[in-house]
Amino acid sequence: MNTNHLLQGFGKRIKTLVAAALCLSAVALIAADKDKKKAEWDASKLPAAASKTGLTFEKDIKPILEKSCVKCHSGEKPKSKYRMDTLANVIKGGESGDAAILPGNSAKSPMAAYVSDLVEDMEMPPTEKRDKYPQLTKEQIGLIRAWIDQGAK
Ligand code: HEC
Repeated sequence: MNTNHLLQGFGKRIKTLVAAALCLSAVALIAADKDKKKAEWDASKLPAAASKTGLTFEKDIKPILEKSCVKCHSGEKPKSKYRMDTLANVIKGGESGDAAILPGNSAKSPMAAYVSDLVEDMEMPPTEKRDKYPQLTKEQIGLIRAWIDQGAK
C-alpha cells in the first residue's frame, strides 16, 4: 500500500466520522427543542375579549395582576425571571425567552393562554396556589385580551 492509498482511506474515515457527528448533533438539537416544548393552545377556547375600549395597563390591567400574579413575579427572585414591575417587562416575559404578550394579538399571547388554563403545567396562577392567588375570572381575562388586542398600552 502506498501513501496515496493510506491517505484515501483516512479521508473516507474522516468523512464518515463527520457525517456521524452531524447526525448526532441534529438529534441533540431536536431533543433540546422537544424539551423546550413550545407552548401551543387552542385559541378558540379563550374567553371572549371584552368590548370595552380605551383600556390601559395602569388603569385596567395592573390591579388584576397585583392581586393574582405580582407576589410571585417580582422582588429579588421573580418566578421564571418574569418581573411584572413595568409594562415593558410584563410584555417581555421571562426565562422562557418568549414574549408573554404579543401586542395586538391576544390569541397568540402566552399570558392569555396561561391565565385561561389552556397550557398544561403553565396554568397561572399555578392551580395549587389558588387559595392565596385567585384564579382570574372570565371577565378579567376578557379585559386582558381586549387590552392586548388594543395594542397593550
Ligand atoms: C404562586 C406563584 C405564582 C403566581 C401567583 C403566578 N405565577 Fe406565573 N409563574 C410561576 C412559576 C413557578 C412559573 C414558571 C413555570 C414553569 O416554567 O414551569 C411562572 C411562569 C409564568 C410565565 C412565563 C414567563 C416566562 O418564562 O416567559 C408567565 C407569562 C406567567 N407566569 C404569568 C403569570 C400571570 C399572568 C399570573 C397572574 C394571573 C401569574 N403568572 C401568577 C409562578 C407564579
